[in-house]
Amino acid sequence: MNVQDLKPQVEQILRDSNKDVKLRMTEVCELLEKNIAYYDWVGFYFRNGDKEELKLKAFAGEPTDHEIIPFGKGICGQVAVSNQNFVVPDVKAQDNYIACSINVKAEIVIPLFVNGENVGQIDIDSHTADPFTAEDEEFLVWVNEKVAAIL
Ligand code: SME
Repeated sequence: MNVQDLKPQVEQILRDSNKDVKLRMTEVCELLEKNIAYYDWVGFYFRNGDKEELKLKAFAGEPTDHEIIPFGKGICGQVAVSNQNFVVPDVKAQDNYIACSINVKAEIVIPLFVNGENVGQIDIDSHTADPFTAEDEEFLVWVNEKVAAIL
Protein backbone atom coordinates (compact mmCIF):
# COMPACT_ATOMS: atom_id res chain seq x y z
CA MET A 1 0.00 0.00 0.00
CA ASN A 2 1.09 3.57 -0.71
CA VAL A 3 1.65 5.83 2.28
CA GLN A 4 -0.78 8.45 0.93
CA ASP A 5 -3.63 5.90 1.05
CA LEU A 6 -3.23 5.63 4.84
CA LYS A 7 -3.87 9.29 5.62
CA PRO A 8 -7.67 8.99 6.09
CA GLN A 9 -7.17 6.06 8.51
CA VAL A 10 -4.50 7.94 10.48
CA GLU A 11 -6.90 10.88 10.85
CA GLN A 12 -9.75 8.58 11.86
CA ILE A 13 -7.66 6.91 14.59
CA LEU A 14 -6.34 10.18 16.00
CA ARG A 15 -9.72 11.89 16.17
CA ASP A 16 -11.27 9.15 18.38
CA SER A 17 -11.19 10.97 21.71
CA ASN A 18 -12.84 8.00 23.48
CA LYS A 19 -9.39 6.40 23.46
CA ASP A 20 -6.42 7.82 25.34
CA VAL A 21 -3.55 9.38 23.39
CA LYS A 22 -1.15 6.47 23.96
CA LEU A 23 -3.66 3.94 22.59
CA ARG A 24 -4.35 6.11 19.53
CA MET A 25 -0.61 6.42 18.90
CA THR A 26 -0.18 2.66 19.26
CA GLU A 27 -2.96 2.13 16.72
CA VAL A 28 -1.22 4.50 14.28
CA CYS A 29 2.02 2.49 14.73
CA GLU A 30 0.11 -0.74 14.06
CA LEU A 31 -1.59 0.71 10.98
CA LEU A 32 1.72 1.79 9.47
CA GLU A 33 3.61 -1.39 10.38
CA LYS A 34 0.87 -3.66 8.96
CA ASN A 35 0.23 -1.80 5.73
CA ILE A 36 3.60 -0.60 4.50
CA ALA A 37 5.67 -3.63 3.52
CA TYR A 38 9.04 -2.06 4.36
CA TYR A 39 7.96 -0.58 7.76
CA ASP A 40 8.98 -3.39 10.14
CA TRP A 41 9.05 -1.51 13.45
CA VAL A 42 7.26 1.77 14.12
CA GLY A 43 7.50 3.72 17.36
CA PHE A 44 7.12 7.12 18.98
CA TYR A 45 9.74 8.34 21.46
CA PHE A 46 9.28 11.47 23.60
CA ARG A 47 11.51 13.51 25.85
CA ASN A 48 11.37 11.93 29.33
CA GLY A 49 10.29 14.85 31.52
CA ASP A 50 13.19 17.22 32.12
CA LYS A 51 15.80 14.53 31.49
CA GLU A 52 18.15 14.62 28.51
CA GLU A 53 16.77 11.32 27.26
CA LEU A 54 14.00 9.83 25.12
CA LYS A 55 11.42 7.37 26.37
CA LEU A 56 9.42 4.98 24.17
CA LYS A 57 5.71 5.82 24.37
CA ALA A 58 4.02 3.68 21.71
CA PHE A 59 5.18 1.12 19.14
CA ALA A 60 4.30 -1.77 16.83
CA GLY A 61 6.66 -4.65 16.00
CA GLU A 62 9.06 -6.60 18.20
CA PRO A 63 9.57 -5.25 21.74
CA THR A 64 12.87 -3.36 22.03
CA ASP A 65 15.43 -3.23 24.85
CA HIS A 66 15.94 0.44 24.04
CA GLU A 67 12.99 2.07 25.79
CA ILE A 68 15.26 4.84 27.08
CA ILE A 69 17.77 6.53 24.74
CA PRO A 70 20.09 9.32 25.99
CA PHE A 71 20.18 12.50 23.89
CA GLY A 72 23.02 12.26 21.35
CA LYS A 73 23.08 8.44 21.30
CA GLY A 74 22.01 6.47 18.24
CA ILE A 75 19.98 7.85 15.36
CA CYS A 76 17.10 8.75 17.71
CA GLY A 77 19.31 10.55 20.22
CA GLN A 78 20.95 12.55 17.43
CA VAL A 79 17.56 13.70 16.11
CA ALA A 80 16.60 14.79 19.64
CA VAL A 81 19.41 17.38 19.46
CA SER A 82 19.60 18.16 15.72
CA ASN A 83 15.85 18.80 15.15
CA GLN A 84 16.40 17.39 11.64
CA ASN A 85 14.96 14.43 9.76
CA PHE A 86 17.47 11.57 9.66
CA VAL A 87 17.19 9.03 6.85
CA VAL A 88 19.61 6.09 7.11
CA PRO A 89 19.69 3.95 3.94
CA ASP A 90 22.26 1.54 5.47
CA VAL A 91 22.56 1.28 9.25
CA LYS A 92 25.94 -0.50 8.92
CA ALA A 93 27.44 2.74 7.60
CA GLN A 94 26.55 4.59 10.84
CA ASP A 95 29.01 4.78 13.75
CA ASN A 96 26.52 6.30 16.19
CA TYR A 97 23.77 3.71 15.85
CA ILE A 98 21.93 1.56 18.42
CA ALA A 99 21.04 -1.85 16.98
CA CYS A 100 17.61 -3.13 18.04
CA SER A 101 17.59 -6.20 15.82
CA ILE A 102 20.13 -7.84 13.51
CA ASN A 103 17.46 -7.81 10.79
CA VAL A 104 17.31 -4.02 10.55
CA LYS A 105 18.95 -2.62 7.42
CA ALA A 106 17.61 0.94 7.29
CA GLU A 107 15.98 3.50 9.57
CA ILE A 108 14.15 6.83 9.37
CA VAL A 109 13.60 9.20 12.29
CA ILE A 110 11.47 12.36 11.98
CA PRO A 111 11.26 14.88 14.84
CA LEU A 112 7.85 15.81 16.27
CA PHE A 113 7.33 19.48 17.09
CA VAL A 114 4.78 21.10 19.39
CA ASN A 115 4.77 24.91 19.18
CA GLY A 116 8.15 24.75 17.46
CA GLU A 117 9.74 22.63 20.19
CA ASN A 118 11.21 19.20 19.38
CA VAL A 119 9.35 17.05 21.95
CA GLY A 120 9.67 13.61 20.36
CA GLN A 121 9.96 11.65 17.15
CA ILE A 122 8.64 8.84 15.02
CA ASP A 123 11.18 6.08 14.39
CA ILE A 124 10.85 3.41 11.70
CA ASP A 125 13.11 0.41 11.16
CA SER A 126 13.17 -1.52 7.90
CA HIS A 127 14.43 -4.98 7.02
CA THR A 128 14.74 -3.74 3.43
CA ALA A 129 17.91 -1.92 2.33
CA ASP A 130 17.52 1.74 1.33
CA PRO A 131 13.70 1.77 1.14
CA PHE A 132 12.82 5.31 2.24
CA THR A 133 12.01 8.09 -0.22
CA ALA A 134 11.09 11.75 0.04
CA GLU A 135 7.47 10.59 0.05
CA ASP A 136 8.02 8.66 3.30
CA GLU A 137 9.67 11.72 4.81
CA GLU A 138 6.75 13.98 3.82
CA PHE A 139 4.19 11.43 5.02
CA LEU A 140 5.88 11.02 8.42
CA VAL A 141 6.18 14.79 8.89
CA TRP A 142 2.42 14.91 8.22
CA VAL A 143 1.76 12.05 10.72
CA ASN A 144 3.76 13.89 13.38
CA GLU A 145 1.80 17.11 12.77
CA LYS A 146 -1.45 15.19 13.23
CA VAL A 147 -0.17 13.57 16.45
CA ALA A 148 1.10 16.93 17.76
CA ALA A 149 -2.43 18.28 17.39
CA ILE A 150 -3.79 15.82 20.01
CA LEU A 151 -0.98 16.19 22.58
N1 SME B 1 18.14 2.29 16.10
C1 SME B 1 17.76 3.36 16.99
C2 SME B 1 17.36 2.83 18.35
C3 SME B 1 15.92 2.58 18.48
S1 SME B 1 15.43 1.12 17.77
O1 SME B 1 15.54 1.29 16.30
C4 SME B 1 13.86 0.75 18.16
C5 SME B 1 18.89 4.36 17.13
O2 SME B 1 19.99 4.14 16.63
O3 SME B 1 18.66 5.40 17.75
